[in-house]
Amino acid sequence: MKLIVEPLRRLLHGTVRVPGDKSIGHRALLFSLLSATPVRVRGLGDGADNGRSAKAIAALGATISRDPADPGALVIAGTGLDGMRAPAAPLDCGNSGTTIRLLCGLLAGQRFAATLFGDESLSKRPMRRVIEPLAQMGASITGQGTGVDVTPPLTIGPAAGPLTAIDYALPMASAQVKTAILLAGLYADGETCVTEPGPSRDHSERMLAYLGAPLATAGRRTAIDTRGWDRRLAGAGFDVPGDPSSSAFLVAAALVGGADEVRLPDICTNPTRTGFLDAIAAMGGRVAAEDPRAAGPEPVADLAVRGPAPELAATEIAGDLAVRSIDELPILAVLAARARGTTIVRNAEELRVKESDRIATTCAMLRAFGVTCEERPDGFAVEGRPDRPLAAARVHADGDHRIAMAAAVAGLVADGPTVIDDADNVATSYPGFAAALTALGAQIRVE
Ligand code: S3P
Repeated sequence: MKLIVEPLRRLLHGTVRVPGDKSIGHRALLFSLLSATPVRVRGLGDGADNGRSAKAIAALGATISRDPADPGALVIAGTGLDGMRAPAAPLDCGNSGTTIRLLCGLLAGQRFAATLFGDESLSKRPMRRVIEPLAQMGASITGQGTGVDVTPPLTIGPAAGPLTAIDYALPMASAQVKTAILLAGLYADGETCVTEPGPSRDHSERMLAYLGAPLATAGRRTAIDTRGWDRRLAGAGFDVPGDPSSSAFLVAAALVGGADEVRLPDICTNPTRTGFLDAIAAMGGRVAAEDPRAAGPEPVADLAVRGPAPELAATEIAGDLAVRSIDELPILAVLAARARGTTIVRNAEELRVKESDRIATTCAMLRAFGVTCEERPDGFAVEGRPDRPLAAARVHADGDHRIAMAAAVAGLVADGPTVIDDADNVATSYPGFAAALTALGAQIRVE
């Protein structure tokens, strides 16, 4: 699939509902499987990645039905902690790193074996980061590759008995690895602890605590202590707020192109996810977060961008801010291309092992638009060119949804039509992306 983007001819205007947050959606599905009572999930996103988690929990024994009284809601009847059944076939995780890594944690303590696989991109992604701590807990997980890392397909279990509690210091800030260990901790005797070096997203902690898991967090340390616990999780339901990572592309479009008003209601404003808003503020962009409120365990607000394209200034994104904006760095790089000065991104080596090597693919994408971008081992440096349009480009998205969407936003301020090849995977997180930009007044075609 190809996206063809025309330069903007007018200010963007309108209100768009972005899909439910992908990270929270995965957790709503996988954690509902563990619930002893049915869970209502409202606002689940329509991306293919969440669909992979939905199919996986069905294969493990959950029943998913529409709520006749509320067409926007699903009712998930799970199996409880100890009622899962062996899947009849290998579980296809598609493009979804969160599905495969969280399932590793969930399945590590089961008494049956399971095989997990995915698409070409997922089949290259490193799994040792989950396998190593889970093996310390007594799980057996084998995969492919004898070199630097272990890759899917993975075969897990069966576990011979309860897992062993561990106290684990994560070598990288990763919510997927943290969550896998906490899920396995539900099947361990005693107290399983994870300490992380940076503030990775904390949806699992909030949502597992909401379901009644014996979980406690102190700073960067989270513990699951199963001693004296009745092994019961239950909760009425989850409202999945809008995905800040999807909203970031529309926010950026409104900033580079200017907006009469672009409103994005109900966006998750969990502080572990708002690094891109902080980076934009540091660059001099204004994004209003209006009517802040709670949606169950998560904070939400309505985002709004108003006014002509602001003058942006270069910034530096490093340390905790890089962790809190990790999925938004490709689109922040597009904003950097419109900002005066050189923007530097550091401490973001995790980008190398996302759906593509996002340090390489972000730089290649910007260069296609005529932007000078220096690739570094742990990030990149972008020389902004705010005074003239970007050069219309032909971009290869490398099958990476976030590179395709970032390129589409860059195309709005190019000097001619931009063509983005290999953009099918936009559907993994935001199938309605092109329609949303069109609704705001952009011209973008899908071919
Ligand atoms: C995610 C965690 C992050 C993020 C990914 C979603 C999650 O990955 O990049 O898009 O839902 O837990 P890591 O855990 O590898 O940092």
